[in-house]
Amino acid sequence: MIVLGVESSCDETGLALYDTQRGLLAHALHSQVAMHEEYGGVVPELASRDHIRRAIPLLEQVMDKADVTRDAIDAIAYTQGPGLAGALLVGASIACGLGLAMDKPVLGVHHLEGHLLSPLLAGERPDFPFIALLISGGHTQLMRVDGVGQYALLGETLDDAAGEAFDKSAKLLGLGYPGGPAISRLAEFGESDVHRLPRPMLHSKDLNFSFSGLKTAVLTLVRNQTANICEQDKAHIARAFVDAIVEVLVAKCLAALKQTGLKRLVIAGGVGANRQLRDALNDAAQKKRFKVFYPELEFCTDNGAMIAFAGAMRLQINPDAAKRDYGFNVRPRWPLDELRVV
Ligand code: KG4
Ligand code: ZN
Repeated sequence: MIVLGVESSCDETGLALYDTQRGLLAHALHSQVAMHEEYGGVVPELASRDHIRRAIPLLEQVMDKADVTRDAIDAIAYTQGPGLAGALLVGASIACGLGLAMDKPVLGVHHLEGHLLSPLLAGERPDFPFIALLISGGHTQLMRVDGVGQYALLGETLDDAAGEAFDKSAKLLGLGYPGGPAISRLAEFGESDVHRLPRPMLHSKDLNFSFSGLKTAVLTLVRNQTANICEQDKAHIARAFVDAIVEVLVAKCLAALKQTGLKRLVIAGGVGANRQLRDALNDAAQKKRFKVFYPELEFCTDNGAMIAFAGAMRLQINPDAAKRDYGFNVRPRWPLDELRVV
């Protein structure tokens, strides 16, 4: 079965073709980072317009790369939510328009399910059940995953998402958008013992997170510096921020593994690309004897491959999940644990 995936929930347009027999055939991505950079964050209206411009040329690219004909495509999966309403509507209307024109069934996919299953696209695939830490720009959740569509929420952020904390703290340090990679690179030049930031909810005895205080602590440190804060000062603050957030994320993963008795941990979402987090998790995995799985770096952030793949997984369970019903609605807010195998 070959599934075409369409991702447009935020600031990346992603198209991909996944074959359940041969694996990922092709994927293509356009990132809008350069366009949003001057505004310091995603401008939803600009994002929607750009998805419209990019989707069809990207589709042509993946069709060429995969060397498949339209007839070979069995279904079209698109991100139905959560995300920016206008951006989601573009992807949904393109997917449904293509479905109608090519007489193919369509299927709305949950964006976070795409992230959650993205490590299964990598060479070494984790078996079910596993604990998943979903850390993206909009979400921070610990889930127990027993199979496709079987997700139990164990804990989540009470305020800012981890990626949001990276982006907002980076902004306070005058770094560009998106802030995660920038603050992570800067932290490499800072020392750990210059500043110490709080570890929010480290001892809360549950699996929830809270990151908004961390951003406020970064703001206080920045304000306490002299008027001309130098690059080295910024690097020390970046280091303190990364140390704090990584320690909390690792501690909560360990607590989730302990609570459930599971030995497999999957990291998904944009913040999963973070080098310091990966180093700390790999160390912990060795010491505590569990296995940690990551998506390929290019599939940590938003992409079409994870949507094509999640769609294919759903269709393998239930071939009728894709429909020739081209009226669509999007779900900008959509809790992942509402998903069931249908
Ligand atoms: O999963 P994603 O591409 O989009 C959402 O679904 O939100 O995640 C984007 C988030 C942004 O907040 C970005 O700053 C963060 O992932 N991010 C990183 C890194 N790469 C991306 N955060 C920390 N370190 C990174 N290397
Ligand atoms: Zn995402």
